[in-house]
Amino acid sequence: MEMEIGKAGRRDLAREIERLKRERGATILVHNYQPPEIQAIADMLGDSFDLSRRAATTDAELIVFCGVHFMAESAAVLAPEKTVLLPRPDAGCPMADMATAPALRDLKRRHPRAAVVCYVNSSAEVKAESDVCCTSANAVQVVNSMAEDELLFVPDRNLALYAQRFTSKRIVPWNGYCPIHHRFTADELRAAREAHPGAVVVVHPECTPDVIDLADEVLSTSGMIRFAAEAPVREIIVGTEEGMLQRLRREFPDKEFILPSDCLLCVNMKKIGLEDVVASLRSVQPVISVPEEIASGARRALERMLTVPRNI
Ligand code: 13P
Ligand code: SF4
Repeated sequence: MEMEIGKAGRRDLAREIERLKRERGATILVHNYQPPEIQAIADMLGDSFDLSRRAATTDAELIVFCGVHFMAESAAVLAPEKTVLLPRPDAGCPMADMATAPALRDLKRRHPRAAVVCYVNSSAEVKAESDVCCTSANAVQVVNSMAEDELLFVPDRNLALYAQRFTSKRIVPWNGYCPIHHRFTADELRAAREAHPGAVVVVHPECTPDVIDLADEVLSTSGMIRFAAEAPVREIIVGTEEGMLQRLRREFPDKEFILPSDCLLCVNMKKIGLEDVVASLRSVQPVISVPEEIASGARRALERMLTVPRNI
């Protein structure tokens, strides 16, 4: 009975969101890790790369970003004439907080000939100190597009080490990491493989090198959707945040998706509820904005990122 009331309540909230969205001329951008009821109200559901591109090109005056802070901030930087809302401003990314602009300036002073490649999971201040941004979908392509032979890569050490496998450039990794992907171990993956010997293993490049060594495919979150759609396999072990599996199970009900660890849950990605989206659309708050003196540098790095095609 309670489940039914819950469902009806969710339906009412979703209807109210639809009405407010039309009234305000808003578009709702949703990351693949968001809870299913938020995924269901998306105008676009995708990974960091596709959502950044959509933010830069949408006609809507108002963007409601259902993801974490750096994603809404990137949207605000790429679409300075639009209003960008993050329904829960406390939805942050611990990895993004692991790099600061003063510490990056210090590292740049020690590597004067190096260029800076900055994972999009970072603050606007750090982006403004960087030559180019990348997402998990185009990190390798971005690294190889640079003229410099030495690259500082912030903040994700695991993604830096992954990109290093595909380039002769010298990458100096920052010491940041995603606490969720970093916790997931090679032993857990081995155990999942043993339990599902016929399964193919896909993992996110934020995983540690020993996990990546055991994977069949290393993919961004939208890359995982494409893989599930195209690969002639029935069982897939998915080494990334569990919200991804909710989308995969919904879109490919004839396939089996296995979560190889119970630590793959990003609490920040689960903060936004339907009621937060309603409140946000009603009040047109909280607005995410970036002072232009920081935004201009961050925009240069983000726009350059968008010129480099995704490969995973
Ligand atoms: P994607 O860019 O692959 O969507 O990943 C974003 C993220 O935060 C992974 O932890
Ligand atoms: Fe940040 Fe990791 Fe959560 Fe992605 S999954 S938002 S990298 S903490």
